[in-house]
Amino acid sequence: MKYVIAIILFTSIISCKKGNFEEIHQPEVKQDTTKAPLTCDTVNLTYTANITKILNNNCISCHSSAAGTYPPLDSIQPIKDNIESILNSILQNGLASPMPKGASKLDDCSINKIKAWKNKGFPQ
Ligand code: HEC
Repeated sequence: MKYVIAIILFTSIISCKKGNFEEIHQPEVKQDTTKAPLTCDTVNLTYTANITKILNNNCISCHSSAAGTYPPLDSIQPIKDNIESILNSILQNGLASPMPKGASKLDDCSINKIKAWKNKGFPQ
C-alpha cells in the first residue's frame, strides 16, 4: 500500500512539473500572426517562386503593364532596372514614394526577400 501511494505521489509531481514547464514556455513558442514569421527563408530565392508572389499580392493591381503605373512590376526587366527605387519605396525610408500606396508596409520577411534576391543577382 505504501508503494502504491508513493507511486501516485511521484507521478502527480511529475505531471505537475510538466504542466508548469509548458505554461512557462508557451508564450515563447506562440507566434504573433500579425508579424513576420520567426524564420524567413532568404536562401534559394527565385523570381518565379518567390518574388512574383510578393509583387502580385501587393503591387500588381496598380503596377501591371495594363494598369500603367510606372514601374511595371509584372516582368523581371523593369524590376531589375528600378530595384533601388522599389527598395526605397517598400522600406518607406523617404527616398521614394512609400509603397504599397494606401496600404500598410510589407512585412519584414517580404522586404528581406526582395533585398536578398537583388543581392544574389536576380536569380530567375
Ligand atoms: C494602389 C495603387 C498602388 C499600389 C498597390 C502600389 N503602388 Fe507603387 N505607385 C503607385 C502610384 C500612383 C505611383 C506614382 C507615385 C505616387 O503617386 O506616389 C507609384 C510609384 C511607385 C514607384 C516609384 C516611386 C518613386 O518615388 O519614384 C515604385 C518604385 C513603386 N510604386 C513600387 C511599388 C511596389 C514595390 C508596390 C508593392 C509593394 C507598389 N508600388 C504598390 C500606386 C501603387
